Amino acid sequence: MHIDILTLFPEMFPGYLNESILKRAQEMGKLSIALHNIRNYAAGKHRVTDEPPYGGGGGMVLKPEPIFAAVESLVSSSQSPLPIILLSPQGRPFTQTVAQELTRQEKLVLLCGRYEGVDERVRQHLVTDEISIGDFVLTGGELAAMVLVDAVTRLLPGVLGAAGAAETDSHATGLLEGPHYTKPAEFHGWAVPDVLRSGHAANIARWRREGALRRTWQRRPDLLLTAELSEADKAFLAQLAEEEVAAMNKKSADQN
Ligand SMILES: C[S@@+](CC[C@H](N)C(=O)[O-])C[C@H]1O[C@@H](n2cnc3c(N)ncnc32)[C@H](O)[C@@H]1O
Repeated sequence: MHIDILTLFPEMFPGYLNESILKRAQEMGKLSIALHNIRNYAAGKHRVTDEPPYGGGGGMVLKPEPIFAAVESLVSSSQSPLPIILLSPQGRPFTQTVAQELTRQEKLVLLCGRYEGVDERVRQHLVTDEISIGDFVLTGGELAAMVLVDAVTRLLPGVLGAAGAAETDSHATGLLEGPHYTKPAEFHGWAVPDVLRSGHAANIARWRREGALRRTWQRRPDLLLTAELSEADKAFLAQLAEEEVAAMNKKSADQN
């Protein structure tokens, strides 16, 4: 996958993008990233990229001309239509499903807003998608772009070391992932569950599945409405519900 990132602050990216999995993905040829400074596409001696909003009000707005020029330079060198994604708190929510959907693209263009955002004509006539990484407002789209690049890259086939590692991640299965343990087998008197050291693959798989169900039940029960559940999963959830009712009954009996 190739990703072009349009930003006023390209120097914010290299530290994050050139470490760990993202670095490896680039070395493996699975990912390439080109950073483009929007300022380089602004006309005039001062290369102005933003102006105050028409109608008054605080802040500055990114001008359309440099952004159109930057995107057009990429589009003209591309054979096929490019997805041009504006990072925006007003965009569709970024989820694991959206990350998975984006892995199907060979190329992406990410546009990072700043200040009050971009001139509305950029939204209306240039971008093909708007994505938000959450219901909060960042100072600029750069962090959001890095979040998107990270989440998409780890889903590209072959990027993660362990085969299938991303498949059991939280949200990939529609559930949260259950607990993990590593060495030592005992720490401060807290032991790793025996089943994980038993070597019994089927029991370990069931324990992990139930751990995921329990954690989702406790923290994000809304996800259970859409997750794919087997009959065994449903029976386990029914058992959790019974346990909860029993615990509530005991608590109220203890209080009386
Ligand atoms: C200060 S914000 C502008 C917010 C804008 N005035 C509004 O209320 O919608 C500047 C830029 O940060 C980026 N940004 C802020 N929050 C974001 C979010 N939750 N997801 C993605 N990008 C975000 C966008 O590129 C945005 O243009």
